[in-house]
Amino acid sequence: MPDPTLHYAVRTLDHGLLLPAGTILSDEVMAEVAWRGRQTKSLQHALDAHDTALADLRRYLATPPYHAIFADPEQTADCLKIMGEVELVAPFMRVLDHFRHHDRYTYRHMLMVFALTTLLARDLVPDYSERLREAFAGPTHDFGKICVPLGILTKTTPLTADERRQLEHHPLAGYVLLSYYLQDHQHFSAQVARDHHERKDGSGYPSGRRVLDPMLEIISICDIYDALISPRPYRPVSFDNRTALEEITRLAEAGKVGWYVVKALVAHNRRVAFDPAKVWVSPEKRGAPPQGNNYGLVAESSPDAIPARQA
Ligand SMILES: [Fe+2]
Ligand SMILES: [Fe+2]
Repeated sequence: MPDPTLHYAVRTLDHGLLLPAGTILSDEVMAEVAWRGRQTKSLQHALDAHDTALADLRRYLATPPYHAIFADPEQTADCLKIMGEVELVAPFMRVLDHFRHHDRYTYRHMLMVFALTTLLARDLVPDYSERLREAFAGPTHDFGKICVPLGILTKTTPLTADERRQLEHHPLAGYVLLSYYLQDHQHFSAQVARDHHERKDGSGYPSGRRVLDPMLEIISICDIYDALISPRPYRPVSFDNRTALEEITRLAEAGKVGWYVVKALVAHNRRVAFDPAKVWVSPEKRGAPPQGNNYGLVAESSPDAIPARQA
C-alpha cells in the first residue's frame, strides 16, 4: 500500500509548521516527526483532572439513547473509573477545551466515543484496560479536526468538494500531530487517528486500509453510531436510535464493519448481557433517516465556501 500524501499542511497547536502540504508520510518522515516531538516537553494528564469535561460527560450519559445504554449504575461507574484513569497527552486537554468553546458537537462527540468505546471494550477485548490505556484513543480519534477550519466543522449547508477534502484531512493530520505529541509514530493512538475512517473491507479513507484491530473496529463503530444519534450542524434532527442501529447493521451486512461489535452495541441497547451466540439482529429495516440531512451532499459552489489554509 503506498504511503499517504498530505493534501494540506499540518501545524502544531502553537502554529509551528510540522509538515507542509504535499508531504508523503513515509516511515522515515514519520520517525522524524516523532523525533521532533521528543525535543519538546512531554506532559500527561488523567481525564479525572478535568472537572468540567467529567461533569459534561455525566450529563451527556444521562441523555437518550445513552441513558439506556448506560442504565446500569455499577457498569457506568466502572467505565467512568477506567476513563478517568487513562493518561491523556496534555495537548488533548487544549483540543478538548478548544472544541468546548467553539464547536460543541465535536466536543461532545469526542467524549461520547470515548465512553461508548470503553463500555464495548469491556465486553469484547480481553485486556481492555491495558489497551484503552495504550490507546487512550477514544477521545483522540478526531484530534486532527483541530486542523480543519471551524467554519467547515460547523457548517449547516452541504460542503463543497474542496471543503469535504479539507474535512477529510483530519485523519492524517491527527496521525502526524499525535506522532509528534506522543513522540512515537507507531503509537496505537496515532494509528487510531489515522485509520478510524477506514473499513473492514478496505472501502474507507484516507488509504483504503483494511481494519483488523478489534479496538480500532470498536472505535470506528462507536464513531459512526455517535455521529448518527447526536445533534450535528449539517442536519436539524438526529437519526432515531432504531434507524441508527439499522444503518450500522447495513454496514455489517455489507462487510464494512464487524458483526461482533454491532451485536455488542445492540445488546447494550436491549440492556441484555452480551453473548454473541444469543444476540440476534433482524435484517428487516423499518426506520426512516431524518429529513434535511445534508451529510454527504456536495454543493457545486457556495457563496460562503471556506478557502484552504495556505501551507
Ligand atoms: Fe473522524
Ligand atoms: Fe469522529
